[in-house]
Amino acid sequence: MSCSHISELEQAPFGVLRLPRTIVVGVEQRLAISQLASEFGRSVLICTDRRLAASQELHALVRDLGNMQMDVEVFGETEAELPTPGITACVEGLRSRQIDVVIGFGGGSCMDMAKVVSILLTHGGHPRDYYGEFAVPGPVKPVIAVPTTAGTGSEATAIAVVSDPDLGMKMGISSPHIIPQAAVCDPSLTYTCPPSLTAATGADAFVHLVESLTAIPRVPSPTLVHERVFVGRNALANSIALDGIRLVGSSLLTAYKDPENAGARGEMMLAALYGGIALSNAGTAAAHAIQYPVGALTHTAHGVGVGLLLPYVVRFNFAAIQPQLAQIAEALGENIHGLDPREAALAGVRAIDGILHGIEIPSTLAELGVAEGDLARIAELSMNSKRLIDNNPVQLDLNAIKSIVRAAFVGDHSING
Ligand SMILES: NC(=O)c1ccc[n+]([C@@H]2O[C@H](COP(=O)([O-])OP(=O)(O)OC[C@H]3O[C@@H](n4cnc5c(N)ncnc54)[C@H](O)[C@@H]3O)[C@@H](O)[C@H]2O)c1
Repeated sequence: MSCSHISELEQAPFGVLRLPRTIVVGVEQRLAISQLASEFGRSVLICTDRRLAASQELHALVRDLGNMQMDVEVFGETEAELPTPGITACVEGLRSRQIDVVIGFGGGSCMDMAKVVSILLTHGGHPRDYYGEFAVPGPVKPVIAVPTTAGTGSEATAIAVVSDPDLGMKMGISSPHIIPQAAVCDPSLTYTCPPSLTAATGADAFVHLVESLTAIPRVPSPTLVHERVFVGRNALANSIALDGIRLVGSSLLTAYKDPENAGARGEMMLAALYGGIALSNAGTAAAHAIQYPVGALTHTAHGVGVGLLLPYVVRFNFAAIQPQLAQIAEALGENIHGLDPREAALAGVRAIDGILHGIEIPSTLAELGVAEGDLARIAELSMNSKRLIDNNPVQLDLNAIKSIVRAAFVGDHSING
C-alpha cells in the first residue's frame, strides 16, 4: 500500500455502527414489547430485579404476553452490579425449560443479566468463559432490552458487565452477537427514578458520550472492525455522540430537579440510548478504567465515579482533544464564536464541569471515601482494563494514570497542555 493511500484512509470518513435490529423510543411504547417478543417464539424469560418485579408495569407486561398466548417465566432476583453467582443460579433454574426470547427489564444490571443468560442458554458454560472481546462463538437467543434508567445504554450495546467475586473485580463480555435484537425505550419507566439515581445514571450516559467522541482515532484498516469491538472515534458514532451531548445539556438538570418532567425524561432516555450506541462502537476510555477499582473499593455507583473522574480525564487529554472539546462547548450551548481553538476547548471543559456540578456529582475521590494510601493501588488496577486504556486519546502508562488519580484525589483542576 502506498503512503498516499494510507493518508487517504486516514482522512476520509470512517465509521462503524452495529445496532439492535429494532429500536423503539417513546412514552407507553412498553406496550409494543409483547408483539415484538411474539415474533421470536412462544416462550419468554423476563430478567428483572425485585423492585421492578413488583411494579405495575412489569405485571402489565406479563399480562400482555399471556394475552399473546406466550409462556412467561419471570426471574426477579437480578442483583445490582450483576455478581456472577446470581447469573448461574438463574440459568440452573431454567435447565428443563425451552426459552425462545429473553427480556431484560430494568437498569443496566437487568439488561446485562438478560444478555449473559442468553449466552449461557445458547452456548453453555460459565460467564468467565466469555470475558474479553469476540469470545462469544455465535448468535445467541434474542434479547429485548427495556431500560428503566436513562444511563447505561446497554439496550444498544455489544457489552455486558458482570462482577466476578473470584477475581474481585468487574469484567466485560464484548461481542456483536450480544447486541439486543430489540431495544424498547419508554421514558415513562424512568419517572420513578429518585434524583440520586437520575444523577448517577445521567452522568454515566454523559461520560459515555464524551469519552466516545474523544476516543482515540485508529487507522481504518480493513481488519479493524474484526479485530476490535470498540474501534475508537469514528464518523458515525461522532454525530450520535454530539446529539446525545446536546440532549444532556438541555435536559439532565431538569430531569434531576423535576422527576416527572416528561420532556426532560424523554430527552434523557434518548441521550442514554445515543451514549450506548456511541460507546458500543467507539468505546470509552480512562474515566471508565479508573472507575472500576474506585467502585470496587468505595462501593459507590458507577455513574458517580465516572462523572467525578471525567473533568480530570478531559484536562489530562486536553492537548489531544481540543477540536472535540470545542464541539462539546457548542453542543452544551456555549458561544464559542470568535474564540481561538484553545479558548473554545477551555469553554468545553468548563461546560462539562457545569453539567456535573449541576447534578451534584462529588468533585474529589476523597469525597467518595478514597484514602491517600489507596491511590497507587487504584492506578495499578486501572491498568488492567487494557481495552479502555488503549482507547484513550493520549497514551497512558502507570505514571499517567497516577497523575490523573492524584489530581482527582486533591481536586487539582490544572490543564495538561
Ligand atoms: N452493558 C453496558 O453497555 C453497560 C454500560 C454501562 C454500565 N453497565 C452496567 O450497568 C449496571 C448499572 O446499571 P444502572 O446504573 O442502570 O443501575 P442498576 O440496574 O444497577 O440499578 C440500580 C438500582 O436502581 C433501581 N432502579 C432501576 N430502575 C428504576 C426506576 N425506574 N425507578 C426506581 N428505581 C429503579 C434498581 O432496582 C436498582 O436498585 C452496572 O453493572 C454497570 O457496570 C453496562
